Amino acid sequence: MSEIIAAIDVGTTKICTFIAEASPEGHLRLLGAGRARSRGLHKGVVVNVSAATEAIAEAIEKAEQDAETPVRSAYVGIVGGHISSHNGVGAVAIPRGRSITRHDVDRALDAARAIPIPSDREIIHTIARNFTIDQQEGVQEPIGMHGYRLEVNAHIITGATAAINNLVKCIQSNGVVIEELVLEPLASGEAVLTPEERELGVALADIGGGTTDIAIFLNGSVWHTSVLDVGGDNLTRDLAVGLRAPLDAAEHLKVRYGHALPERVAEDETVSAAAFGDASVQAISRRYIAEILEARSEEILLLIRREIKRSGYDGLLPAGVVLTGGSAQLQGVKEMGRWVFRMPVRTGIPNSVGDVHRQWLTPAYATGLGLLLWGVRRGPTEHVRRQSPMMPRLREWLRSLLPG
Ligand SMILES: Nc1ncnc2c1ncn2[C@@H]1O[C@H](COP(=O)(O)OP(=O)(O)OP(=O)(O)O)[C@@H](O)[C@H]1O
Ligand SMILES: [Mg+2]
Repeated sequence: MSEIIAAIDVGTTKICTFIAEASPEGHLRLLGAGRARSRGLHKGVVVNVSAATEAIAEAIEKAEQDAETPVRSAYVGIVGGHISSHNGVGAVAIPRGRSITRHDVDRALDAARAIPIPSDREIIHTIARNFTIDQQEGVQEPIGMHGYRLEVNAHIITGATAAINNLVKCIQSNGVVIEELVLEPLASGEAVLTPEERELGVALADIGGGTTDIAIFLNGSVWHTSVLDVGGDNLTRDLAVGLRAPLDAAEHLKVRYGHALPERVAEDETVSAAAFGDASVQAISRRYIAEILEARSEEILLLIRREIKRSGYDGLLPAGVVLTGGSAQLQGVKEMGRWVFRMPVRTGIPNSVGDVHRQWLTPAYATGLGLLLWGVRRGPTEHVRRQSPMMPRLREWLRSLLPG
C-alpha cells in the first residue's frame, strides 16, 4: 500500500507545498505542487501570523488542486536566527541478559535531551550521531547488540518557543496536522547530498532569500547546524541601492544578468532596467551589476567559511561544500566558493528525489522535496507536534462561506 505524504517549505521568498505518493520501498512520485509568494515572514521567521497563514493557505490549495488530494498532515520546514544546536551525551544501563532494543535507544536519547534549556526555548530535534556500547565507540546501529551500558552521542537542535508556536499556528490554522517540524538544512541535505558525501564529510549551505542555512555531515550523520541571517535578498537590496532602481527591477536584473565574478562579464555589455524617478529606463553596465553582487556574495561565502571553521570540522570535509537554495543559482558563485573555501564545491540540485517533474528540480526546491524524503526515510522522529490542529478544517469552513 502506498502512502500519501505532504511537505510545506515556509521560505522567506516563497512557500511551497508538495504532495507525493510514497511506495512501501520509499520511492516518491510527486502528485502535485503549489507555490505562493511569501508574506508575513522575515528572515525565515513568521512575523505576521495572519499574512503568513494566508500565504500558506494559497500554497496548500494550489497543491491540493494540482494533486486532486487534500493535505491532512505535513512535514514542515523550520529555520531562523533563533535556531541553535549543540552536541550532547545520554547514557542508560541495559538489564543483564538481553540485547539492546528500540526502547533503550529512546531512553538514551531522552537522557541526552534532559539538559537545562531556557524556558523560552524548546527542542526541535534530538538526532543520534553514534553510540558507545560499554567500551566500544562509534557504533551506528546498536539495536540487537549486547552490552551493559548504552551511550548515545546526539545532536540537539533547539529553537525559540515563540517562533515555533507562530509557525505551528499558521499551519494548524489551515487544518493541517504537523507530522514533524524539520530543520530546513537537514531537509535540503536529504535531497541533494549523496550517502558517500555524508559519510566522508561535507558541508551543506542552503542560500535562500532571507537566510543561509548550514549543516555539516560526517560519518553518515549531522554534526553541526547553524542559520545565518543573510541571503539573496541582501544581494537584491544592494543592487537596488547601487542602481537606484526599484526592488523588483533589481531582483529581475540579478536573476537574469547577475554574476558573482565581474571579470567574467564583458566590459561593454549593457542591459536596460527600470529606474526610479523620471528616467524610467536606464542602461546599466552588466559588469557594474556584477561588481555590486561580488562584494555581498563574497561576504556570504566568507560567513559560511567562518561557520565551518567555528564548527571545528573544517579539516574533515573531503567532499567539500555543496551549495543549494535559490541563490546557489547565481552565476559565478560556485567558482567563487572554490576560491573562498579552498575545497571542492558543487551546486546541489534535487535530482534523485524520485518521480518529480523537471520544473521542480532546481536548488530552490531542495528543502521542499527534501522534507518529503525526510518523511519517507525517517518518519516522524520526534513526537513534538502531533496534536490535532487548534481549528480543524477551518479552511474548509471558510471556503464554504465563499460564493461558489
Ligand atoms: N538565477 C538566480 N540567480 C541568482 N539568485 C537567484 C536566482 N534564482 C533565484 N535566486 C534568488 O534565490 C532566493 C530565493 O531562494 P529560495 O527560494 O531558496 O529562498 P526561500 O527558501 O524562500 O528563503 P529562505 O530559505 O531564506 O527562507 C531569492 O533571493 C532569489 O533572488
Ligand atoms: Mg529556503
